[in-house]
Amino acid sequence: MANTTRFLTGITTSGTPHLGNYVGSIRPSVRASLSTEVESYYFLADYHALIKVDEPARIQRSTLEIAASWLAAGLDPERVTFYRQSDIPEIPELTWLLTCVTGKGVLNRAHAYKAAVDKNTAADHDADMDVSAGLFMYPVLMGADILMFNAHKVPVGRDQIQHIEMARDMANSFNHRYGEHFVPPQAEIEESVATLPGLDGRKMSKSYDNTIPLFSSREQLKKLIAGIVTDSRAPGEPKDTEGSALFQIYQAFASDEETQSLRKAYADGIAWGDAKQILLERIDREIAPMRETYLGLINNPAKIEAILMAGASKARQKATPFMATLRHAVGLRRLGDQTPVASQKTAKAALPSFKQYREADGQFRFKLVDAQGRLLLQSLGFESPKVAAQTIALLQREGASALAGLADQLEPLAVDAGVVVAALGELLAAQA
Ligand code: TRP
Repeated sequence: MANTTRFLTGITTSGTPHLGNYVGSIRPSVRASLSTEVESYYFLADYHALIKVDEPARIQRSTLEIAASWLAAGLDPERVTFYRQSDIPEIPELTWLLTCVTGKGVLNRAHAYKAAVDKNTAADHDADMDVSAGLFMYPVLMGADILMFNAHKVPVGRDQIQHIEMARDMANSFNHRYGEHFVPPQAEIEESVATLPGLDGRKMSKSYDNTIPLFSSREQLKKLIAGIVTDSRAPGEPKDTEGSALFQIYQAFASDEETQSLRKAYADGIAWGDAKQILLERIDREIAPMRETYLGLINNPAKIEAILMAGASKARQKATPFMATLRHAVGLRRLGDQTPVASQKTAKAALPSFKQYREADGQFRFKLVDAQGRLLLQSLGFESPKVAAQTIALLQREGASALAGLADQLEPLAVDAGVVVAALGELLAAQA
């Protein structure tokens, strides 16, 4: 699995999933998950939702709806790791480690925070009025989401690129301090769909209240589509595809051929009402088969809960040991624990080592130090450098079993004998 690309993306559980979420995130991620070359992580970003929403029932409902949407769209929880962010306690824990390697100045420049500050400043308010520390920390939590599973690619909309760049910076600054633990991730932008317009022509977004819910009934869909802004050109007048929200939404669902044929219809002066009918039929053709599944799932929350619990356990099989490695790397360690965590790339560099040297008295000595340079074993003086070297070789070859025979060539131990035995054992294991 060494060459497998890991994809990861999350959706904030702050509202009802809409066509923009589907086209920009749900549909491409479901498609990607069908490839055998990728390992996919998809999650419900409910900790992120707390930053924007303080209605508990809405968070819960949104979690249910988004999970059901993903499953109805064909996500196979057996093939991917599908989980709820708040079921993985390692994520907030990692958030703290990353917080400590992230510059405050970097977070000051995050778009969402900066926009809030600029708005306050323009209104002559205190710069941080109504800005929670959660909003400020949003990029770090997102960095932890991504780095927890060492994702290579993160499919997101354009507005999230800055967050992925920040996650790269966090990976690099952590690696720089503590060794290579993180893969710097990359944003994966689906150019054609990165900005699905909403009813008013701006980006489709919960915050603009211009969305088309993904699982609207056909009647609702029809009503909403009727409300998409158009210009006032009459039937028979040629229409512009450029800047037409209706056209862009159609394009996100249609094949190239279908798109070409609507382009022609625009040029030929199709009536807006007819264009809207075509859009309705096209969307409904794709969504209708999933609608049934969606409604079935929404009415069976226990089933979704079980799927999410299984996903959390799968995710934690990775997160728990990785977090243990990271805790160790930064120095959050059991006090008796002198051995580096096995299976790290740094394990080799972290081995204890022998040092041979000559003292002012002309005698040769050696010592064994651990990876941090702490003295474990100190020899007495030898007349000959060769005998000192042979004694080291004996310890390297036989490990702790040679210790008893060397008692009168060594200083009394300054550390617990168990630590010395373990260190010699590590050296033996490393040669094997
Ligand atoms: N911030 C993303 C959004 O609002 C959601 C999100 C949270 C996310 N954590 C993530 C996306 C990690 C990708 C990877 O759209």
